[in-house]
Amino acid sequence: MAVSSLTMSLVFVKISFLILSLHLFFIPGNAAETLSLSYDFYQKSCPNVEKIIHSVVSQKLLEAPAERDSKINLSLPGDGYDVFFRAKRAVELQCPAIVSCADVMTIATRDLIHLVGGPRWEVTKGRRDGLISKASRVDGNIPRVNQSVSEIIKLFKSKGLSTLDMVALSGGHSIGFSHCKEFISRIYKYNATFDIDPTMNQGFALSLRRPCPKHNLDPTVVALNDVATPFVFDNFYYKNLLKGVGLLATDQMLALDSMTEGYVKRMAEDQSAFFKHFVAAMIKLSGIGVKTGRDGEIRRDCGSFND
Ligand code: HEM
Repeated sequence: MAVSSLTMSLVFVKISFLILSLHLFFIPGNAAETLSLSYDFYQKSCPNVEKIIHSVVSQKLLEAPAERDSKINLSLPGDGYDVFFRAKRAVELQCPAIVSCADVMTIATRDLIHLVGGPRWEVTKGRRDGLISKASRVDGNIPRVNQSVSEIIKLFKSKGLSTLDMVALSGGHSIGFSHCKEFISRIYKYNATFDIDPTMNQGFALSLRRPCPKHNLDPTVVALNDVATPFVFDNFYYKNLLKGVGLLATDQMLALDSMTEGYVKRMAEDQSAFFKHFVAAMIKLSGIGVKTGRDGEIRRDCGSFND
């Protein structure tokens, strides 16, 4: 994975690229290894890199404005990494073989979050792309919906991220989608006593049954991660959790576990606190497992190694 060293509408350009970038930030490493990244890394070699990427991300968001206003809460998956590949191609035209895919993705993710209402922060640059891409390195390194809060805290901690970082980063679910399979066990035959997960707002659960039927499930259908303000990066994700409107089991548990509920309340009450903690945690996250110097390579095409 090139970036290891880093919607309902398709407007989100399919934020799918975020899920991979943000979830896979976890692959191996620790936030302590922030290494020799710098803000002005491309100052001489590609001074317009941030402008080029920003313009591609903005263009992509402008492409489907009507879809953004859609009220339906299901959609078909889109083109995943497209925005990211496009940004890299645009950068290559001006600065061939200079800027890594990992840096393009880090900058594009920052821009996307800001363009949909979230905070903006300066990103360090100088990451290089990895030379290893193995599914086996993913397992155990990304959080799963069937994990407990303690297990997720432990995973984040193993990467140098605190419980607060984890709760703030989970605010990434303020945008984007999840496939039915990720929450279907919550809405049918939950357990011997409850048909629907009792921690879930029952009306919300029932509304998910139409797009996600028990039988003949369409594997391409997705539901909004933040049903209140799906296309805006804000703190409604946390407000939803306090009302039982968290889509994934792991989202909902954050509001119920004593280790995390205080943070959820704080973020729900104060969007600027959410933004502050989110930015701090994203900065840590974008330094995890990073390759610099002579390690790795600068991929020409983000989808494959150079040779
Ligand atoms: C805390 C543990 C976490 C778990 C268990 C988790 C799990 C998931 C799952 C299952 C999906 C749906 C994937 C799909 O069906 O395609 C998803 C989507 C997403 N996640 Fe997470 N996630 C976690 C943390 C994070 C963090 C820390 C971030 C970012 C900072 C993040 C950002 C996203 C985004 C943006 C999406 C939407 C992707 C899209 O629209 O395609 N998640 N997450």
